Amino acid sequence: MTRVAAIVPAAGRGERLGSRTPKPLVLIGGVPLVVYTLRQVLRIHPFSQILVPVEPDAVVRMKALLNKHGLRRVEVLAGGVMRAESVRNGFDRILPSTELVAIHDLARPFVTAGDMAGLVKAAQASGAALLAQKAVATVKETDASGRFVKRTLDRNRIYLAQTPQVFRTAVLRKAYDKVGARYRDFTDEAGLVEAAGNKIRIVPGHAINFKITTPDDLVMARLIARGR
Ligand code: CTP
Ligand code: MG
Repeated sequence: MTRVAAIVPAAGRGERLGSRTPKPLVLIGGVPLVVYTLRQVLRIHPFSQILVPVEPDAVVRMKALLNKHGLRRVEVLAGGVMRAESVRNGFDRILPSTELVAIHDLARPFVTAGDMAGLVKAAQASGAALLAQKAVATVKETDASGRFVKRTLDRNRIYLAQTPQVFRTAVLRKAYDKVGARYRDFTDEAGLVEAAGNKIRIVPGHAINFKITTPDDLVMARLIARGR
């Protein structure tokens, strides 16, 4: 059985959500988002390790909360200022002999086992796999002002990156070595691995795996969770 570690970055500030409650603690389906998403992560794959970087000040409280909800297997650690740093802190704690690493945003509670299985297969075959949703609308690129259309892109070649993103551990480690301190600049690990010169396999994703970013997203997520 392939050993797959999961890193679930949860150290963001939730600025676009604009809620007084920290984003990992907003309630969905009657539990904090962090509990909801981690329960789903446990369902989609038998991960060898689950690493959760959180805001440094919140480590102790988060451990207690996850214990209370029976999520004792989860390893809580301090994240960083940028998402990339949070993921890196998790990566540094991965046990030797872990073949694959899956990175999944805490803010995507509805990830599915089917998508995870497709990613593992693709990453085993090619070293790097990204879940991404094919553009359904016509896509416009703007000029520098951001107010006028510069051109219309071929939507058949546009995909919106999601998570999980799955890599052979050795591929991600090499990418970190290659880019050095620049690793902080990347908004996802697929971007980093791409910059290091690797090919990344796209696994077509689904709209249900949306990221809770804005208040509207939270309304939608609560409706879906209630319906389950
Ligand atoms: N994240 C993280 N460490 C950071 C920033 C983000 O672990 N320094 C995590 C978030 O907790 C989230 C995921 O990365 O699960 C995707 O980030 P995003 O949806 O942008 O969440 P936030 O950064 O919390 O939101 P915002 O950008 O609106 O502040
Ligand atoms: Mg963010």
